Amino acid sequence: MRNYIFLGCVFIFFACQKVAETQAVLSPNGRITVTINKNPLTYQVKLDGKLLIDQSRLGLMMSDTSFHSAFEIQEVSRNIIKENWIPVWGTDSVVLNHYQELKLKLANKDDRWMDLCFRVFDDGVGFRYEIPKQERVDSLVILDEITEFNFAQSAMAWSIPANYESYEFLYRTCSLDSVQSANTPITLRTDDGTYMSIHEANLTNYAGMTLINKGGNNFECDLVPWPDRIKVKAKTSLMSPWRTIMITDHAGELIESHLIQNLNEPSKIHDVSWIKPMKYVGIWWGMHLGAETWTMGQHHGATTENMKRYIDFASSYNIQGVLAEGWNTGWEDWGKLGAFDQTTTYADYNFDEVVAYARQKKVELIGHHETGGDILTYEQRMDTAMQMLSNHGIRVLKTGYAGPIPKGQFHHGQWMVNHYRRVVETAAKYQLMLDVHEPIKATGISRTWPNMMTREGVRGMEWNAWSEGNPPEHHLIIPFTRGLGGPIDYTPGIFDIKYEKRKRYVRWNSNDKGNSRVNTTLAKQMALWVTLYSPLQMASDQIENYEGHPAFKFFENLPVSWNESRVLAAEIGDYLAVARRNDDSWWIGTTTDEKARVLELPLSFLKTGINYQAIIYADDADTDLEENPAAFLIHHDRVNTETILTVKMVAGGGQAIKITPLKE
Ligand code: NOJ
Ligand code: CA
Repeated sequence: MRNYIFLGCVFIFFACQKVAETQAVLSPNGRITVTINKNPLTYQVKLDGKLLIDQSRLGLMMSDTSFHSAFEIQEVSRNIIKENWIPVWGTDSVVLNHYQELKLKLANKDDRWMDLCFRVFDDGVGFRYEIPKQERVDSLVILDEITEFNFAQSAMAWSIPANYESYEFLYRTCSLDSVQSANTPITLRTDDGTYMSIHEANLTNYAGMTLINKGGNNFECDLVPWPDRIKVKAKTSLMSPWRTIMITDHAGELIESHLIQNLNEPSKIHDVSWIKPMKYVGIWWGMHLGAETWTMGQHHGATTENMKRYIDFASSYNIQGVLAEGWNTGWEDWGKLGAFDQTTTYADYNFDEVVAYARQKKVELIGHHETGGDILTYEQRMDTAMQMLSNHGIRVLKTGYAGPIPKGQFHHGQWMVNHYRRVVETAAKYQLMLDVHEPIKATGISRTWPNMMTREGVRGMEWNAWSEGNPPEHHLIIPFTRGLGGPIDYTPGIFDIKYEKRKRYVRWNSNDKGNSRVNTTLAKQMALWVTLYSPLQMASDQIENYEGHPAFKFFENLPVSWNESRVLAAEIGDYLAVARRNDDSWWIGTTTDEKARVLELPLSFLKTGINYQAIIYADDADTDLEENPAAFLIHHDRVNTETILTVKMVAGGGQAIKITPLKE
């Protein structure tokens, strides 16, 4: 984001008296065509001449009736952008942004103006509504957005239901026409094998989008409302989020795509020197298991002593960050207004002592602000609470919204979208990087606010502690759906898979039947550190389960930033192999669903003429998801660009592989 390298930019602009009724714009490689028709305004999308999205309506329903009469195209402008930009952090150190743009300036007889902007990339389409400043229109009230996605092909779809409050659901795999409603991203594979995913980019000062099936395969945008059912309240000029349609030939290309980031603006933070990815451990899993408590008492997790133990561990295992939850007062009143005090520590947690100890050990502390959903109180307190962290040299903050938000508001409505953005901006002021739990969906705003590192917004690891858990295929769906929006703080890495070593004192969650466990093998837990990208990556187990464990070397050596990422093999819901490069070394994670699989992975991406050592952490011959999930095998192989790696995974299994050049 710091350096812009312009490879070429052509700008053609023409204003005509008589503009053609139909306008088309193509992707740079010519394969994707978007056609826009007027009255009613509709668009169509084709790939290689084959219809993917049939006539679909476009438009906003305003309360101001002067916006209701038909819009005519006044001007057409076209633009081609081809540029490389450098993210502060990410899966690739350079990102290509290459698209053709078509902008239609629309006006109606009541002198109302609206622009419609389409950008067509080789891997998909983004379009948005732009309401410029105009005479006699100061504020806007959007009653409805009528954007449609009228899919022309039948398809298999992966989605979670539309829900105004949560994204923490298991994904459904079913035919597109049987999906009644969905939150985005929703991802599909058409019957002839094209992959598509619908989402939004740059969700700013607007309501979150859900989709409702109007019949067949025609989905309409359903924005999350305010308490008075209005969808969006704003001043001009207003830009809607980009409506995005990723289109690829292979499932893995969805994961490799940067379309969502490209549709966000460059960084608004100029000095980004304080923004750095890191690995972390924390006083966290013990509470979810019921082995420790957030509240003060006999089993309190966040005590000074325990925190020092975690800091010692982090410092010996090359882990930069340590999180503590339950360090501040209020957890006993969870659910009540004003409960959480994010500036007052529990008596057995000496903040200054912990800060000094971490500094001495060169470990970063990760602050935690649970709000319980009490937004109004947090808005009053967050400046002081963030200032306190910043005064103590703390650079990372995890936030949480586990609880009911103010009455009448929905979690994904415009009011909450704006709250979350104020938190990002305030955090930037105090030079704090954020890890947001119970967030607004990821829409690529980390390009603009690179302190917005990672977020939950997924049914993460915690569900394995106190529910029937996440099935093995969950990790084979979320990279192709939720993950397309941006990094996921899934918090992988549980080594005590069946909680055999846990002592449990509390059962605080009513979903907890006492028989929960992690539904993967140990090798797959390790693989998730690679397949589920997060610039803040957690080893989530209690540290006693890592101490002296031979497989933990993988996390110890794991880099935090990547030069390049490739998907080596992928099918949604079935298997995934991802390779990421840091300098000259490659790190591969492979995962499978509930089926045992063998993948043949050509290592042709390695440099020719160089031999490498592969350290492979694999499921062993006697590894068994039900009976023996923690069994694993470490073996060393000599590999080069000619090697085809045979990757064997048991049901629910995986492999974690580190490949480094041999010094010969
Ligand atoms: C839910 C979050 O996802 C989890 O990480 C956190 O530990 C709890 N809320 C408590 O804040
Ligand atoms: Ca959560």
